[in-house]
Amino acid sequence: MPARRTVALVTGANKGIGYQVAAQLAKRGMTVLLGARNRAWGVKAAETLRAAGAGDVRPIVMDVTDPDSVGAAATHLDIHFRRLDVLVNNAATYDEAARAACTGDTRHLPSGADLDVVRAVFETNVFGVITVTNAMLPLLSRSSAPRIVNVSSGLGSLSAMSDPDGPLGKIPPSIGYIPSKTALNAVTVQYAREYRDTALLVNAADPGPCATELNPTAVRTAAAGARVAVRLATLGPDGPTGGFFNDDGPVPW
Ligand SMILES: NC(=O)c1ccc[n+]([C@@H]2O[C@H](COP(=O)([O-])OP(=O)(O)OC[C@H]3O[C@@H](n4cnc5c(N)ncnc54)[C@H](OP(=O)(O)O)[C@@H]3O)[C@@H](O)[C@H]2O)c1
Repeated sequence: MPARRTVALVTGANKGIGYQVAAQLAKRGMTVLLGARNRAWGVKAAETLRAAGAGDVRPIVMDVTDPDSVGAAATHLDIHFRRLDVLVNNAATYDEAARAACTGDTRHLPSGADLDVVRAVFETNVFGVITVTNAMLPLLSRSSAPRIVNVSSGLGSLSAMSDPDGPLGKIPPSIGYIPSKTALNAVTVQYAREYRDTALLVNAADPGPCATELNPTAVRTAAAGARVAVRLATLGPDGPTGGFFNDDGPVPW
């Protein structure tokens, strides 16, 4: 009898780091549900990966800010697979203030923040993760080795951002994307605490600055950035939970 394939869901996987996470998980033999809020983009991305020999990649429509679309995705997984083994919460949005801050532009300081923009960023990067996670937990509870990876950012590290001599301490302050990733780290720890005595491992990944639409001037490839999420998605039973990791190991909170 063939071994049961691991079932993975990656949100925001039609491009960038999520696309590469989907590719790398599929290459490891998993059945990968490639999440995309735009159906056509998801279908195209999954087709491209299958055509390149990535393996069993299937598109699934999911806007992480829309509970109905997340619920429909959970129902689809329940009908077709009865469970979920790996959830990678990768989808995120970026605000112009954070983009500007990374280029040294101080025109978007917290004191001038557009709250609608800040709310929209948190809606995707924090509340979207909670929406998806809670919708998928009943399916993850049917897995013998469930894993959740929240794709965070080193920019969200409180110790790094508050070190005036470090590279992140030199970035001008902004209060959309950056604190959304700090909040995501705290959310990660809270889920890990709730599930500490179970097989579920919940960790946050820092891909490092990668060349994607979100960060077009970076040098590192999205494929390289995907590796830490893949490692955390494939942890053995003795792996860590409630941690924050990059390629080199734990990242300071
Ligand atoms: N690139 C970097 O330097 C870097 C560094 C550290 C951390 N990260 C993190 O890595 C992750 C991936 O970022 P990326 O650089 O690959 O960005 P990206 O190329 O902009 O991709 C973001 C993905 O998220 C999707 N998305 C946005 N809002 C969504 C929503 N409401 N529902 C579903 N999907 C949604 C986008 O879909 P559409 O195509 O429809 O917009 C896209 O597929 C993010 O969590 C980001 O914070 C990136």
